[in-house]
Amino acid sequence: MINDLWYKNAVIYCLSVATYMDANGDGIGDFEGLMRRLDYLQGMGVTAIWLMPFQPSPCRDDGYDIADYYGVDPRYGTLGDFVEFAEGCKQRGLRLLIDLVVNHTSNEHPWFQESRRDPHSKYRDWYVWSKKKPKSANSGVVFPGVQKSTWDYDVVAKAYYFHRFYDFQPDLNTSHPEVQAEILKIMGFWLQLGVSGFRMDAVPFVIAQKGRDIAKPQEQYDMLRTFSQFLNWRKGDAIILGEANVLPGTDMQYFGNSGDRIQMMFNFEVNQHQFLALATGDSRPLVKAMQATKRRPATAQWGQFLRNHDELDLGRLTEKQRESVFAEFGPDPEMQLYNRGIRRRLAPMLQGDRRRLELAYSMMMTLPGTPVIRYGDEIGMGDNLKLPERNCARTPMQWSTEPNAGFTKSDKPCMPVISDGPYGFPHTNVAAQRRDPTSLLNWMERIIRMRKEVPEIGWGDFSFVSTGTSQVLAVRYHWRNNSVLCVHNLSAEPREVRLKLRADDEADCELVNLLSDEHSHPEKGAVHRLLLEPYGYRWYRVCGLDYLLRRSAI
Ligand code: NOJ
Ligand code: CA
Repeated sequence: MINDLWYKNAVIYCLSVATYMDANGDGIGDFEGLMRRLDYLQGMGVTAIWLMPFQPSPCRDDGYDIADYYGVDPRYGTLGDFVEFAEGCKQRGLRLLIDLVVNHTSNEHPWFQESRRDPHSKYRDWYVWSKKKPKSANSGVVFPGVQKSTWDYDVVAKAYYFHRFYDFQPDLNTSHPEVQAEILKIMGFWLQLGVSGFRMDAVPFVIAQKGRDIAKPQEQYDMLRTFSQFLNWRKGDAIILGEANVLPGTDMQYFGNSGDRIQMMFNFEVNQHQFLALATGDSRPLVKAMQATKRRPATAQWGQFLRNHDELDLGRLTEKQRESVFAEFGPDPEMQLYNRGIRRRLAPMLQGDRRRLELAYSMMMTLPGTPVIRYGDEIGMGDNLKLPERNCARTPMQWSTEPNAGFTKSDKPCMPVISDGPYGFPHTNVAAQRRDPTSLLNWMERIIRMRKEVPEIGWGDFSFVSTGTSQVLAVRYHWRNNSVLCVHNLSAEPREVRLKLRADDEADCELVNLLSDEHSHPEKGAVHRLLLEPYGYRWYRVCGLDYLLRRSAI
C-alpha cells in the first residue's frame, strides 16, 4: 500500500507555460507548445510537472495575481488545450501539479471589484478591510524596496485593504467559511480536469489570521487538514506541496503529527544551507539543517531544490554566513535582491563550472526528499541581470540555434531570450546538448535515471558517515534491507577519505559504484579508502547485488 505514495520518490520539473514553447508564433508560450515538448520531458525522466500560474491574470507578478481561478489565460490557450495537455501527461505517466494561489487575488478579480464597490455585497468580507490605517501598515512587507506597506487605501471603498504582497494583490480573508469553500471548489475543479495536486503558494500567509487588530497573527493549522481531507475525498492520491519558508521547529505543524495536513513542503532550510556548503566547502551547517528537518511523518516528504523562480532567499543564515554566500555567488549588488537573496540562475552562480554544477545537482538529488528541477537548469541556462527583479531568471527556454532559441517564430518574444555570451542560446541550447553524449543535459538524464533507481533516498532513513573532514559529506540511506552511500567532495582540491561501515556484518561489504565501474573493496576493519577528485561525488550501493539478493532471500 505504502508504495502508492508516488510523491515520495518523484522527480518534479517546474516550468512556466509563458516562457517554455510558443506554438502559434505570437511570442508567448502556450499549452500547444508545451504539448510538443512533453516527449522531451518524459525522455529526460522527470515524473511530475509543476506548472506556475496560467490562469487569466494581469500578470503583474508573473501570474501570481489571478483574476479568474476557473480558466486559462487566453494568451496560453483554452481550457480545452489544458485538458488535452493533462491527457498528454497522463498518457506518458507524468503527474501534473499546478500552482494554487489563494492567499490573494489580483485586484482586477471580480470578487475584489465587487468587494470594494459595494459594502453590502457578499464579497465585502472576502477581503480584509479597515476604515482607519492600521498601525502595522508598514511592517511585514515581503518585497522591501518595491512594496511600501501591507495596507493601502482604496478610493472606491474609502477604506484600507490588506495585502501581504504587492498592492495589486489584495489578501483573501481565508478564515471566512465562504472563502474556504471557494478554495475547495477551485481545487475540485482542477482535480476534475486531471491534476494530481497543487503547489500551494504562500502557505503561512494563507493560514494566518488576518485583520486590522491582529498584532501577532496565529497560524490556523487546522485549515490544512480541511484542504487535505477534501483532496482525499475527491482524489485519493492528490497532494499539496506547500511553499512555506518556516523555521524547522514548526514543520510538523504543517505536516501534522500523523501526516494529516499537507503531504509535501519545500525544504528552504536545507536549500539555504546547501548553498552555504557549496560556497564555503564546509558541510557542517548543512548537516545541522538536515538534522533539524529530519523528523517528519512517514507519509510526508520534502521537496528538495536548488533554484526556483524567486530569489535564492538566504534569510535563514547568520549575517556572516550570508556574506560568504553573497561573496561567492552574488558579489555585485545587481545580483542581489531585497538584501536577503540572490536573483541569479544556478549555472552563472557556479561560473558555469561543470564540476560544480554536477556536484550541486548530485548533492540535491541525494538529499532526503523528492528533487524539484527548474526548467532550463538541465542545460545550464543563464540569467539576464538587465531585467528587473526576479525576471532575470525567467527568460524563455533555449531549444535550438534558430532565432529566439527556437522558443518562438515571432521576433517579439514575451521576455527577451538570452542571446549573448556563454549562456546565450547559440551556445546553450537543447538541440546541441541532445547530440552531445557528454553534455549537461545527457548527464542530467543519467542522474535522474539513477535517482529513480535509488528509492532508498525518498523512502529511507538517513545517517551521516564520518569522513574525517567537513569538506566531504557522506550520507547513508537504509530502506528495506537495502542501503546506499552518497559521498560529495565540496572542496576544490582532491580529497582522500577513509570511512568505516559500522555494522558487524559489513566487514566484507563492497561499495558498488552506481555511476561508474570503480568500486571500493574494504581494507581491514571495514574501512574504505576513497579518492575523490575536486568537487567529486560517488553514489554507492552498500554490499553489492549478490549480498543483497542473499539477504532479501532470508
Ligand atoms: C510566492 C511566489 O513564489 C512568488 O513568485 C510570488 O511573488 C509570491 N508568492 C506572491 O504570490
Ligand atoms: Ca503563443
